[in-house]
Amino acid sequence: MKSTNTINLKNRPQGRPKLSDFEFTTTELPQLNEGEVLLKITYVSVDPYLRGRMMDAKSYIDPFELDQPIVSGCVAEVLESKSSNLKAGDFVTGMMEWKEYQVLNTDNLKKVDSDKAPLSAYLGILGMTGLTAYFGLTDIGKPKKGETLLVSGAAGAVGTVVGQIGKILGMRVVGIAGTDEKIELIKSEYGYDEGINYKTTDNMVQAIAKACPNGVDVYYDNVGGEISEAVLYNINKFSRTIVCGAISVYNKTELPKSTSVQPFLIKTSSSMQGFIIFDYKERHPEGIQQLAQWLQEGKLQYEETIQVGFETIPQAFIDLFDGKNKGKMLVKV
Ligand SMILES: NC(=O)c1ccc[n+]([C@@H]2O[C@H](COP(=O)([O-])OP(=O)(O)OC[C@H]3O[C@@H](n4cnc5c(N)ncnc54)[C@H](OP(=O)(O)O)[C@@H]3O)[C@@H](O)[C@H]2O)c1
Repeated sequence: MKSTNTINLKNRPQGRPKLSDFEFTTTELPQLNEGEVLLKITYVSVDPYLRGRMMDAKSYIDPFELDQPIVSGCVAEVLESKSSNLKAGDFVTGMMEWKEYQVLNTDNLKKVDSDKAPLSAYLGILGMTGLTAYFGLTDIGKPKKGETLLVSGAAGAVGTVVGQIGKILGMRVVGIAGTDEKIELIKSEYGYDEGINYKTTDNMVQAIAKACPNGVDVYYDNVGGEISEAVLYNINKFSRTIVCGAISVYNKTELPKSTSVQPFLIKTSSSMQGFIIFDYKERHPEGIQQLAQWLQEGKLQYEETIQVGFETIPQAFIDLFDGKNKGKMLVKV
């Protein structure tokens, strides 16, 4: 095999990403050197944060270059190996280019065991998604039994896990999501006590007050924007807001004017803290161990929306911004 299908970033998206921002091409495969493996991609994770890397802006991670492959978390099969760490037939996870086949050094690859969990789980509940839910809630949220936890993006990859961890920790858990079907799902499958469909609710401040009669102690924010502004009117004394994501503003071409948070935080002595999951790199093994244990004990369930085919990757990514996923959005190649 000499070349492979590849997906490059063609244009920096303006507003909502379009299929024409991506380019399908073929690239040459280099020779396999000592310490390297030839990989065939099995699952590709598409994530909202990739939108940030498509902009030419300073962030915690470098932007993607134009006319170069996009990179995201993937699971792949080892086809050939010149490394003593891995052999043909092994499966690995790591950050990989959107190429069907690729040659990589093994340093940043982690072997995964398909007997312990389905391969896709290593990109979701046992990967970045699960860890983001776990450390954001437990470390920044400082949850206490009996408190009210409100989660936006509640039916998504991170949100479905956050709600369940909240229930394991004895909290009352309320979720915000974009369809009635998703609200039903989070209540029936993921233990949420209440749900609010933000797309059919005129007054979010009142709806949150009704769903959280004792106020909000911990807010796990996946979406930012107007939804999170409405939450401010409902936070309790000493509340904690975990700023995990702001998908509602990722496609805005100008930062929207927003409510000043300071008066709300001052009068309630509350805190608001952002984080990125790489802040917890040293503690990832601890998080994985806890998540795997809860999974094994049947305390955690997870949902996946899986598109099939390498060519569906850009559309699967775009679909995140239309809420087409329940749980983790993945592409099976
Ligand atoms: N801090 C970190 O290290 C870290 C790590 C991973 C993820 N994140 C962030 O966490 C958030 C969730 O990530 P995820 O991977 O779990 O994605 P996800 O929630 O599985 O997928 C995105 C969801 O966002 C909702 N959404 C889209 N546009 C929206 C809008 N304008 N307003 C409100 N909701 C909107 C959609 O659901 P609805 O149908 O409900 O609208 C969609 O299903 C993202 O903001 C992501 O950037 C942060």
